[in-house]
Amino acid sequence: MAGESREQWNSRTGFIFAAVGSAVGLGNMWRFSYLTAENGGAAFVVLYLLLTLVIGLPVMLAELTVGRGAGKSPIQALAHYGGPRWRGLGAVFVAAGFIILSYYGVIAGWTLRYAGEALVTGFADDPGLHFRNIREGSGAFLFHVFFMGATIGIVAGGVKRGIERVAVIAMPALFFLVCAVALYAATLDGAGAGYRYYLNTDFVNAWSLDVLVDAAGQAFFSLSLGMGAMLTFASYLPRESHLPNESLLIASADFGVAFLAGLMVFPLIFALGLSGDVSESTLGALFVALPKAFAAMGAAGRVVGLLFFIALVVGALTSAISLLEVVVSATIDGLNWSRLQSTLVMGLAITALGAPSAWNIGFLEVMDKVANNLFLLGGGLGLSIFVGWVMKDPTGEVAVGAEGVPWFGLWRGLLRFVVPAFLIVVLWNSVPATLRAVWGLISAS
Ligand code: PFF
Repeated sequence: MAGESREQWNSRTGFIFAAVGSAVGLGNMWRFSYLTAENGGAAFVVLYLLLTLVIGLPVMLAELTVGRGAGKSPIQALAHYGGPRWRGLGAVFVAAGFIILSYYGVIAGWTLRYAGEALVTGFADDPGLHFRNIREGSGAFLFHVFFMGATIGIVAGGVKRGIERVAVIAMPALFFLVCAVALYAATLDGAGAGYRYYLNTDFVNAWSLDVLVDAAGQAFFSLSLGMGAMLTFASYLPRESHLPNESLLIASADFGVAFLAGLMVFPLIFALGLSGDVSESTLGALFVALPKAFAAMGAAGRVVGLLFFIALVVGALTSAISLLEVVVSATIDGLNWSRLQSTLVMGLAITALGAPSAWNIGFLEVMDKVANNLFLLGGGLGLSIFVGWVMKDPTGEVAVGAEGVPWFGLWRGLLRFVVPAFLIVVLWNSVPATLRAVWGLISAS
């Protein structure tokens, strides 16, 4: 059923907005600013940019190539080029979608709640205490349910009428909001301290293996790589699309918004001398320091804060859509379910799986580590080996619609040697720490 009537994007712009929507999300605004603050400011930004170019871009192009070439969801697409043994990697992709969306929905639920509060009551006087009160429990679960309800509703609408229609409105709006907030932040007294922190640092001392691991995990998470999200979106592309251009555009937009997010977050925090709150937890910057800054700015803060949290909700929503689409497309193709049935069953299952994260922030943080450091990096390793060594003629496939691009040999070389070697080093360092975190969680409960 799925084969002959496979959906397609309405237009190239629709695909680009949907793919950028997948990439731009909480990762850009929450994780990127937090990791940058923790890991030495500009040094981290530069390292991250390098990784995006040398590791992220080749893997992105690999996902697009397999997805468009096979015209199938991840499990079937890998089997199409590599035989049934490769279905396992596709199953890992789908599992990653399940896990990530289950906790991503909880964080998105907090942002939804903050946006609602900014509108109705204004920001709490003591955001630290407020965040501790709302981040766990039935309230957190309820907002996760609201957020998941919206995600399910859009994905059930289908590729053209659901995902694309939302993305072409949401992404320009998000970009506009981020620029507006960044411009406002630039007008604050003391914004300079924020920029200095963000853009000047001691490069040599800031780079270490731990920072590299963080930057690699962040690059995969932020670019939505290593779990077949880009692959799935590319499976709805027509054959003539120019994949190298699309990859470049998606990666640049993703880096651009992350960079802009830093330009809004740091001046806001530093202008009010709140940098101490950032390190309270990984979520401190977003849910404690910024609301504190907004609260201290009176009426203007409330408006800017509202716009900021709306931007976060929009970014989270278009990313969540792609996470759900990976799982849904797998059941449409694999089990021959209708889109409606797949979306409802899988969406509700993921919503329920969010319960432990909604009731226990320690669980949520461990899930985030497992998802990034095991699933996405491991998935990226599997995929680069697949396209580098197993798939018969990836350079022939990628060249369709992109004839004359001179660097496909370099691309294949990166996928064969550089990307796997890099990911093995990173995984070697991140896996033990991740397993220790999982063990800590199990033994604490
Ligand atoms: N890229 C999204 C973000 O930065 O928030 C998160 C994400 C979406 C990760 C889709 C993985 C994915 F497949």
